Amino acid sequence: MNVLILGSGGREHALAWKISQSSSCNKLFIAPGNAGTNLVGINKNIDVTDFNEIKHLVIDEDVEMVVVGPEDPLVNGIYDFFKNDNDLNHVSIIGPSKEGAQLEGSKKFAKEFMQRHNIPTAKYKSFDKDTLQEGYDFLETLSPPYVLKADGLAAGKGVLIINSISEAKSELKSMLLDSKFGQASSTVVIEEFLDGIELSVFVITNGDTYKILPTAKDYKRIGEGDTGLNTGGMGAVSPVPFVDRFFMEKIEQEIIKPSIEGLKKENISYKGFLFIGLIKVGSEPKVIEYNVRMGDPETEVVIPRIKSDFLNLLKGIKDGTFSEKDLNISEDVAATVMLVSEGYPQKYNKGYEIINSENCEGSIIFHAGTTKDEGIVKTNGGRVIAVTSFGKTLEGALAKSNKNAEKINFQGKSYRKDIGFDL
Ligand code: AMP
Ligand code: GLY
Repeated sequence: MNVLILGSGGREHALAWKISQSSSCNKLFIAPGNAGTNLVGINKNIDVTDFNEIKHLVIDEDVEMVVVGPEDPLVNGIYDFFKNDNDLNHVSIIGPSKEGAQLEGSKKFAKEFMQRHNIPTAKYKSFDKDTLQEGYDFLETLSPPYVLKADGLAAGKGVLIINSISEAKSELKSMLLDSKFGQASSTVVIEEFLDGIELSVFVITNGDTYKILPTAKDYKRIGEGDTGLNTGGMGAVSPVPFVDRFFMEKIEQEIIKPSIEGLKKENISYKGFLFIGLIKVGSEPKVIEYNVRMGDPETEVVIPRIKSDFLNLLKGIKDGTFSEKDLNISEDVAATVMLVSEGYPQKYNKGYEIINSENCEGSIIFHAGTTKDEGIVKTNGGRVIAVTSFGKTLEGALAKSNKNAEKINFQGKSYRKDIGFDL
């Protein structure tokens, strides 16, 4: 079958790398892709939210499945666009409907969904410009730190964790009245701060049954020891060592099952990935957020640990055989280290030549912000390359990734040498 992957990051390179290995994969397209995806498929320079251009590509190239990497096309309704078009409704979209994508597109929707289905999460209330005073009053009932979340998509920047009540109030006002995060903060969720260790679980569902993919933990802060600004993710490990069989069982019964059942009960079409961000408070898992896609860089450790044919599993969603398909996971530990541009996550320059990315023995190199320009691979984003390795132990996997992270070079390269430090 011909497959199209939407997106251009390390996540999409990891998905393309895996899908290209399937005996069921005929032509593989990635839009817009990067210099790495072009090694395993054919890049098409189309924006992920340009549904009409995507339609032309799908028809011209006889694409039967579209795997959606990032959240934007999902929140904008690519699933519904395909379903409602007679020329496209035979194509399988791996990703939820617009309504299902609200689990990520609206924090308020997600919180209300969790409440309806008794899914453990932080206590919360939501506010808009007409209920600012009630927001101040609610803050007074909480103890610091205060967690303020813009309701809508804010490119990963919409969550504020603030120690002082006066600052929390002034930020709330700026989100609601001064559009601090634009339209995304016209509604704000205020929630109780949860103190614990974070992890992520990933589920793939056909809307009826589900399979649990490997767990992962990502490292979001730019600086070693989890300091400094938030980024998209500086590295990740899989599996998460503190998740034993009992804790996983708890996550499945209290969170995964009611989430999938809840979608079904509410008649929300959902055939795709569900990424559940969790925090372990004492021995209890609580949901911090849902994402309706895979994580990046979590995908760069989750997908390589899957031994079975992943496209075959996705085909099961299309042809109704999903529950019979195998999902075999490697026992090995995977770790990834992200090489980033100097200045990231703030202002950075692009266009620097990347050297030594081809010969990194012992690691898999997933491109993120890269491009090929006149035959030369160059930096093209803040997060540039993810270096993934396997090991019998986390230390072993990290040693290989760190060695190759050292070897690959471009002007201004930086990376965290302490991925997994807290495990
Ligand atoms: P989110 O975009 O919802 O994932 O939030 C970004 C980050 O903020 C999370 O990865 C957590 O580190 C932190 N966070 C979000 N909600 C809470 C909470 N209720 N308590 C503690 N930390 C939180
Ligand atoms: N690494 C976090 C995310 O993809 O949202």
